[in-house]
Amino acid sequence: MRFNIVICAVVAVVFKMTNVVCESYNSSWFVFHNCRLKAISRDKVVFNMNGTVLHPVNNVQAHLKIYKRENGFKPWLIDSKIDACRFMRGKYNPVAKIVYSLFQPFTNINHTCPFVGPQVIEGLYPKPELLLLPFPTGQYMLAIRWLFDKKLQFDTNVSFLFVEDLLKQKW
Ligand SMILES: *[C@@H]1O[C@H](CO)[C@@H](O)[C@H](O)[C@H]1NC(C)=O
Ligand SMILES: *[C@@H]1O[C@H](CO)[C@@H](O)[C@H](O)[C@H]1NC(C)=O
Ligand SMILES: *[C@@H]1O[C@H](CO)[C@@H](O)[C@H](O)[C@H]1NC(C)=O
Ligand SMILES: *[C@@H]1O[C@H](CO)[C@@H](O)[C@H](O)[C@H]1NC(C)=O
Repeated sequence: MRFNIVICAVVAVVFKMTNVVCESYNSSWFVFHNCRLKAISRDKVVFNMNGTVLHPVNNVQAHLKIYKRENGFKPWLIDSKIDACRFMRGKYNPVAKIVYSLFQPFTNINHTCPFVGPQVIEGLYPKPELLLLPFPTGQYMLAIRWLFDKKLQFDTNVSFLFVEDLLKQKW
């Protein structure tokens, strides 16, 4: 008897943020001062965001969705609603855990509710671990809708390009 075992490891050769869009729908509660990508070298792009929560909030929901571009952006695999206050206490949601681990080193959003005042992300770029995620090559968007007291307050949409490289080994 013979077995052929094929092991495929997907390693990204390119992971690059290509666009960010932030928009507040209630400027009496949340305002953006800045939300942009900045090229700091030929192949490194970082994300900077600066906003202010004008009144303390104790009830925050994040609605996370990933879209993949195929004749326009189509929903792709992930659609998750997270209680952000609870998540920041206990990191209960695995999808949010991955997304948050990307932001955590670059942000002051590192505590649970209430949130008030400046909310800043500075110099965010994808960590190498991310290059191991099993994404097929393509253009994606991570769209997060933020709700305070169950009412939509703002969106943060980040688009990125992911190019995979298949390493195959057979034995
Ligand atoms: C973010 O993306 C979602 C999904 O495509 C879209 O419904 C929403 O309008 C976008 N928000 C902004 C501010 O462009
Ligand atoms: C907008 O924000 C104010 C707080 O400044 C809040 O009282 C109000 O309910 C919010 N409106 C919506 C539609 O979210
Ligand atoms: C964020 O924007 C506010 C208002 O413009 C500004 O006072 C503050 O210095 C900015 N913070 C950062 C880290 O850029
Ligand atoms: C949270 O972020 C602030 C500002 O970046 C930092 O001073 C503080 O040490 C951080 N706290 C934790 C628990 O990481």
